[in-house]
Amino acid sequence: MDSGARLLTAFLFLLCWTRGEGGGLKLNYYSKSCPRADQIVKEEVVKLYNEHGNTAVSWLRNLFHDCMVKSCDASVLLETTNSLTSEQAADRSFGMRNFKYVSTIKEALERECPGIVSCADVIALSTREGVLKLGGPYIPMKTGRRDSRQSYYENINNYLPNHNDSMSLVLSRFKSIGIDAESTVALLGAHSVGRVHCVNLVGRLYPTVDPTIDPEYAKYLLFRCPSANPDPEAVLYSRNDRTTPMIIDNMYYKHLLQHKGLLKVDQQLVTYPSTAQFVKMMAANNSYFYEQFTKALLLLSENNPLTGNQGEIRKDCRYVNAA
Ligand code: HEM
Ligand SMILES: *[C@@H]1O[C@H](CO)[C@@H](O)[C@H](O)[C@H]1NC(C)=O
Ligand SMILES: *[C@@H]1O[C@H](CO)[C@@H](O)[C@H](O)[C@H]1NC(C)=O
Repeated sequence: MDSGARLLTAFLFLLCWTRGEGGGLKLNYYSKSCPRADQIVKEEVVKLYNEHGNTAVSWLRNLFHDCMVKSCDASVLLETTNSLTSEQAADRSFGMRNFKYVSTIKEALERECPGIVSCADVIALSTREGVLKLGGPYIPMKTGRRDSRQSYYENINNYLPNHNDSMSLVLSRFKSIGIDAESTVALLGAHSVGRVHCVNLVGRLYPTVDPTIDPEYAKYLLFRCPSANPDPEAVLYSRNDRTTPMIIDNMYYKHLLQHKGLLKVDQQLVTYPSTAQFVKMMAANNSYFYEQFTKALLLLSENNPLTGNQGEIRKDCRYVNAA
């Protein structure tokens, strides 16, 4: 090896190493600057869960929508102003809820440690605690992310798959952030909680019922979504998992094997060659699902974070700090 090649190897090694470490993220990042940060988030998440159980579900979806789109940088929390359009206004964000309670968590942190804990870390830590409240595994999320000063509203469709995209497109989107087929199957297990509105289901029901849906289940879905053109303002929806709707568990995969997947992307996991075996394994073994879900959620939560002096620590998660 000449010295140029050696330098390149060293550089690539360093690149992989820092990426593998989550690019500057670590456990208990706030241990000196705000020792109770993790605890405060936990207390608030538990309180909110006791008042509004579905907040825990929202924290999980927030992580996906934030981290999948370019970076885990809380860009999803920015609200529309004169100078930016909120990612929440995009079609792909349809049905996202409980953003106002993110502010509840952030305010509790600001009272104790003003200007220290990022909104991006609020997203990660609230997901960790929310998953626990939903009966899922403990996911050792690292912290140290910083917040974006911009929204990626214009590019959102290049990152977030749609409910009816092909499995090959879905897999390529996840692969581009280092998440393989096995981890993708595990991540979609998040759809074992929460709901889907009829606007996202009618494509499988009208004008004809998608033949991959179990006939009895199709009857139920037609009952839930009686019109081919649901009023987007109306809150017609079906629960993701009618058996254990508020528990993160492998029931999702058991339903997929019974052809009771809700979205087209969910059901395709069963028939697509590189995902089918993992659906069967996760349906058969909840510990294996938890192990893979933990690994995959960590990968997602460490996607391309802003660290060091990039971005900022937002005071109010809804707006970039005044210059
Ligand atoms: C191919 C990837 C994915 C697609 C196309 C997708 C799409 C969707 C859609 C269409 C909904 C229903 C929205 C509504 O009608 O209200 C939904 C709900 C949800 N998604 Fe995903 N999703 C994907 C992956 C994920 C991942 C990776 C996670 C988390 C790790 C996640 C978490 C959730 C949660 C928790 C809900 C329920 C939200 C609620 O009830 O408020 N999704 N998703
Ligand atoms: C996917 O669903 C959207 C509505 O959410 C629809 O506009 C689009 O035509 C559908 N695409 C395919 C390939 O069916
Ligand atoms: C279930 O998965 C866990 C975790 O991967 C593994 O240790 C265990 O052996 C599996 N159990 C069976 C019965 O395959």
